[in-house]
Amino acid sequence: MKLEDVKSIGVMGGGVMGGGITQALILAGYKVICRDLKDEILEKTKDTMINGRFGIQGGVDRGKQTQEEMDAALARLTLTTKVEDLKDVDLLIEAIGGGENGQLENKPLKLKIWAEMDALVKKEAVFASNTSMFTIADLAVATNRKDRFIGMHLFSPANIMKLVEVTYTADTTEDTIKLIIDLSKSMGKTPVRIKDVPGDTGFIGNRIFAATRKEAQKIVDEGIATEEDVDTAMMLGFNWPAGPLGMGQGARSGWK
Ligand SMILES: NC(=O)c1ccc[n+]([C@@H]2O[C@H](COP(=O)([O-])OP(=O)(O)OC[C@H]3O[C@@H](n4cnc5c(N)ncnc54)[C@H](O)[C@@H]3O)[C@@H](O)[C@H]2O)c1
Repeated sequence: MKLEDVKSIGVMGGGVMGGGITQALILAGYKVICRDLKDEILEKTKDTMINGRFGIQGGVDRGKQTQEEMDAALARLTLTTKVEDLKDVDLLIEAIGGGENGQLENKPLKLKIWAEMDALVKKEAVFASNTSMFTIADLAVATNRKDRFIGMHLFSPANIMKLVEVTYTADTTEDTIKLIIDLSKSMGKTPVRIKDVPGDTGFIGNRIFAATRKEAQKIVDEGIATEEDVDTAMMLGFNWPAGPLGMGQGARSGWK
């Protein structure tokens, strides 16, 4: 599938990432159907998208978008709890978390959802996971479309951060990789290409960040410096926007 063939995009999950990805896509001109489990969740998704710290209304107030562009973007948005509404999308992006054990990254839940989506969504559609750490090939096995299955990892807040990690497996076709690279660029983002490897290590960013965080924690555990001073050292000494110990919580909440 080529970018010009993408007429509508499904987003599974309307949380921190699904909401931000949806916002970035509707502003880039795509029709998006965002699905979450309950109407109350979707009401919050829409409110954050419009009135949140990184919401479209703030963009209008600061002159980044016009009121007309905001109205047109919101007219491209469908929020739904009905999974069947996703059956005709050309691309499905998964950004789910939670489930019974409430884990942000829940592999059994992702596998279950991908198998259900494979049975529901039209055969030509491309599937992309926004997982931060799971090996993409492990998720693709839940489907019969391993050639059209790929990692598309955005960063929080997804409508602001420029990076997209595009992770391809041994089965992902070059057409599918190109589609996600072109889509990312059309959203004003910068994609990087990554080969999928076993081990649930994360791709580039989270893998390097995990090593940094481990070292920062070691400094605290050995009584060398406090958490606050470790974060201050990295922010003021290396110009990081947040320290390694404060970063996780900030990203997880969408920096609200
Ligand atoms: N927060 C971050 O910094 C970040 C960054 C990049 C990637 N990610 C990844 O993105 C995914 C989502 O993370 P998040 O921070 O948005 O989590 P979140 O908890 O904010 O949102 C997850 C949403 O998924 C919904 N959900 C659960 N099951 C669903 C289903 N069957 N259908 C539709 N929606 C369903 C939940 O109701 C919830 O609203 C995870 O894989 C996470 O690791 C998170």
